[in-house]
Amino acid sequence: MHRPVMLDEVLGFLDLRPGDTVLDATLGGGGHSKEILKRITPGGMLLGCDADPAAIDRARENLRDFTGSFKLANGNFRYLNEMFDHEGLEKIDAALFDIGISSYQMDEGARGFSIKNPGPLDMRMDPRLKVSAKDLVNRLREEELSDIIKDLGEERFYRRIARAIVERRREKKIETTEDLASVVYRAVGGRYKRGRLDPATRTFQAIRIAVNDELGALKDGLGQIVTRLNAGGRMAVISFHSLEDRIVKNKFKEYSAEGLIKILTKKPVRPTDAEVAENPRSRSGRLRVAERI
Ligand SMILES: C[S@@+](CC[C@H](N)C(=O)[O-])C[C@H]1O[C@@H](n2cnc3c(N)ncnc32)[C@H](O)[C@@H]1O
Repeated sequence: MHRPVMLDEVLGFLDLRPGDTVLDATLGGGGHSKEILKRITPGGMLLGCDADPAAIDRARENLRDFTGSFKLANGNFRYLNEMFDHEGLEKIDAALFDIGISSYQMDEGARGFSIKNPGPLDMRMDPRLKVSAKDLVNRLREEELSDIIKDLGEERFYRRIARAIVERRREKKIETTEDLASVVYRAVGGRYKRGRLDPATRTFQAIRIAVNDELGALKDGLGQIVTRLNAGGRMAVISFHSLEDRIVKNKFKEYSAEGLIKILTKKPVRPTDAEVAENPRSRSGRLRVAERI
């Protein structure tokens, strides 16, 4: 089960009405979308987008009570303009980006995102992507791996880990999530304090963000949606990584300086302690919202 993060906060900011047209750029299990649909029907329309075809199938089932009031598009939100054109959609009243991966993707070993549930080292949100985590880990030069683990994982021991990956793959290809985790444990195991973060978490995160070019997609998606919002329409972005939050912050500043939007959240909104206690995965979430002028 994927619990929608900061649901009350998102709905409070989006201020939806029956008849509104809304984009959910990251449909996932449809958790946010279902609550959005309750508020925009009758008369409203939701376009739900997800790069992962399994998410589209799951959401279609979860949203079946609202059939006729939503359209689903399987694709990356970096191609939003094409999706809008395909659906004959010009402008919308609100947009939500809840980026990263869902609990469904995380928990399913076969997708290769999880340290705890073993599987092939895949990590593609969209199975049509040509390059998987296994390809990156086995093919990139040591310096490239080191940069990815440092920048996208914010991992202190990036050099050691990159070296260990290269040494290990000289003997045997790294094929599974267990292979990668064991290389990381051997490289840094004792250096991580017991009981804190799993020592492989940051490396896994870095490789996942690289495989899916998540930062590039975010920049592209925000740039397109800002021109698609009606005046007074709001866009809400939840990110789970400081690099992503920085992109949102800087993009919002840029659009604000151009006179396109008014920023509604001076600082990012964080989940309440009660939400974090109930759903620990929400703990690093940060919400930023802006309104089209
Ligand atoms: C955190 S989950 C969203 C959960 C959803 N809000 C819910 O309540 O069920 C993120 C989803 O966005 C999708 N996603 C992430 N980046 C994407 C992108 N660039 N384009 C399209 N979908 C993306 C992932 O496949 C995943 O299903």
